[in-house]
Amino acid sequence: MSDAYILGIESSCDETAAAVVRSGEQLISNVVASQIATHQPYGGVVPELASREHLRAIVPVVRQALAEAKHTYKSVDAIAVTHGPGLAGALLVGISYAKALAFALDKPLIAVNHLEGHIHAVLLEERQKGNHELQFPVLALVVSGGHTHLYLATEEQHSWTYENIGHTRDDAAGEAFDKVAKLLGLGYPGGPVIDRLSAHGDPKAIKFPPAQIKHRDRRGRNDGRAVNENDDRARFDFSYSGIKTAILRYVEAHDMRSAVEARRQALAKIPKPKLEDYLADCDQQTLDLVASFQRAMIDDLVEKTLAAARAYDAATLFVTGGVAANQELRQTFEREGAKVGLPVYLPSRPLSTDNAAMIAAAAYPKFLMKDFAPIDFTAEAGLTLR
Ligand code: KG4
Ligand code: ZN
Repeated sequence: MSDAYILGIESSCDETAAAVVRSGEQLISNVVASQIATHQPYGGVVPELASREHLRAIVPVVRQALAEAKHTYKSVDAIAVTHGPGLAGALLVGISYAKALAFALDKPLIAVNHLEGHIHAVLLEERQKGNHELQFPVLALVVSGGHTHLYLATEEQHSWTYENIGHTRDDAAGEAFDKVAKLLGLGYPGGPVIDRLSAHGDPKAIKFPPAQIKHRDRRGRNDGRAVNENDDRARFDFSYSGIKTAILRYVEAHDMRSAVEARRQALAKIPKPKLEDYLADCDQQTLDLVASFQRAMIDDLVEKTLAAARAYDAATLFVTGGVAANQELRQTFEREGAKVGLPVYLPSRPLSTDNAAMIAAAAYPKFLMKDFAPIDFTAEAGLTLR
């Protein structure tokens, strides 16, 4: 089989991205236009603004990705685009553009699940390093702004299948980082700021009670299938709304509200705050709170994921998605994985957060299987992975 160069397009949330990847194993170009500046004044992603920004960015971003790869619209073999999950209006921008390209150029069009994309970011980089011997079963933790999902992944003849064995019952881990940063006046997005500030606080200063999950999941398995009462395969669910409430209570109980408001106003005046700006506006108590929150989140993620790996006898662990960019999380997973002899693979930090290289990489097995999307397919905001 000769090489296949796939142009990937991603527009599911607040990043407009395009990339060219060769045969799912070599990153040729990777362009990401972030919308952080647009959404920052609102403290979170505003869907209508996201769609508008994607419309503005999509053509130059795709052109840049092709130019950096020394490719043209004609020279790529297929166009891959994120199908869902994500913001419907945002997804539609990428999908409409990809369809137009595929139609005009007469190229195959491949629809990719964003969550599968995050998993394939790991595979892309492992292959790029020359690691082609993957041990199965693979357990993948996808930990991002919208998801905290555990999947058992298997591959047969280029066809990947995923079994969901755990998900968050309420807030996703990245969402908890973002909400806690917001309620501490640290702005949006919260994950990268908390990551950097945590190094300056005492992670043992404040203890948070572990999340209690008492009930069976009444919402269904969150993978489209109904709960089967006879299905006694162990589940490893997460819950992060409790810790967010605990932080809110702590802020109130310790009279930190006015300091939070002052910090919010001070940081809002700085277009691109640096670490020194954040540190200048945070007292030690706030830094300790931030570090303790991060430690509690990571301990919970690592503990549950390793328990799942044990229960399912996983041979390899992938940790991917925006929160996998977190320094302490990366170190903790690597250290704890090594203790139990479990190989842990994480994408590089640029490929942990949203990008289109992961979409182009996940499209490659579908390209080999000729699993092409019909021209009338559309965005699926709540798409699940299986
Ligand atoms: O995968 P991603 O870019 O988009 C989604 O698919 O959601 O993940 C974004 C999430 C945000 O919640 C952001 O705060 C979080 O990932 N994040 C981080 C870090 N970088 C991004 N969380 C913790 N530490 C980081 N360094
Ligand atoms: Zn993502």
